[in-house]
Amino acid sequence: MQTIDDVQMTTPPMTWREDQRVAWPMKKLGHAQLGAREGAMLYYLARDWASGARPMVELGSFLGGSASLTGAGLKDNPLWDGKAKLHCFDIFEAKFGNMAEFIRSRVDPDFQEGQNFQYLFDAQTAEVADAIEVHRGDLMEASWGGGEIDLLFVDIAKTPDLNRITLTRFLPALSVGTGLLVNQDFHNPDNPWIHTSLGFLSGYFELVEPRADDSILLRLVRPIPPEALREAGRFEDLPDDEAMNRVNRLMSLLRQNDADTRYVELVRARLQIKAGNAAAGRATVDAALARYGEGDPKTDFFWKRRCDSVQALA
Ligand SMILES: C[S@@+](CC[C@H](N)C(=O)[O-])C[C@H]1O[C@@H](n2cnc3c(N)ncnc32)[C@H](O)[C@@H]1O
Repeated sequence: MQTIDDVQMTTPPMTWREDQRVAWPMKKLGHAQLGAREGAMLYYLARDWASGARPMVELGSFLGGSASLTGAGLKDNPLWDGKAKLHCFDIFEAKFGNMAEFIRSRVDPDFQEGQNFQYLFDAQTAEVADAIEVHRGDLMEASWGGGEIDLLFVDIAKTPDLNRITLTRFLPALSVGTGLLVNQDFHNPDNPWIHTSLGFLSGYFELVEPRADDSILLRLVRPIPPEALREAGRFEDLPDDEAMNRVNRLMSLLRQNDADTRYVELVRARLQIKAGNAAAGRATVDAALARYGEGDPKTDFFWKRRCDSVQALA
């Protein structure tokens, strides 16, 4: 087994591409906003790539789907020292997006808007509780003081402000050379600030896994100066052409790697609409639909819906 400290290795073994069985129980339970492929990726990264001696950080834990798999991988890592933890940050209150409805439809029909759901996280992660440390609270108030980390899993950058917190308070802790960043909202046009940020920072990363469900996996290959992290977080005041340049840089990186760019094309459409060019935005979505069709429901269940929601903005 190769590990993070094996200098010969620059990328992790991509076991998740062939074998996602480890994530099936999580998928079957249905208490997760996570696909089997990205779930399996988290397990294998924690088992086969993480040092087992440095912490890992998860931003956005919800009911514990991703944490249960990352924690299991850490516990199965033969180098795990029993002390390094997966640190899970979440407010654990159903007050954002469709969380309360998700819980009502899958777990508890009486679940209330705003209610605490940490008991559900605790239940799903019970078997790996000794590998997890929970940080409950608003991420806007959170920070990290636990030293260098092996993995930063981001499933919380749902606003430009939250994205800036991940960039300025957590990303600086990622180990240079071996540290891995997973952003779970990448193949989704709803959060274009993620793409302008990663486009700006693309020269600091190597693309490891272009797409596992909605996630992208990047390896940090050089230190990022604090001013670059601050600049990367700009979104609301970013000039339209600079926003598009950043996303185009990302697009080039993906294309060089023959990666799926369909959702990044929708991000480009959103930026065109934001810049006041609704006709160009609609044309970009139409072109993407013509190229990719309606999408395979197995791999791209949300594709057509996401196209429609971008068209609706125009
Ligand atoms: C998409 S869910 C995470 C899904 C999870 N990774 C899984 O495997 O199912 C996003 C999470 O971010 C949390 N969140 C959103 N905004 C937050 C904030 N400001 N502070 C703390 N947590 C927040 C929500 O409570 C929610 O649990």
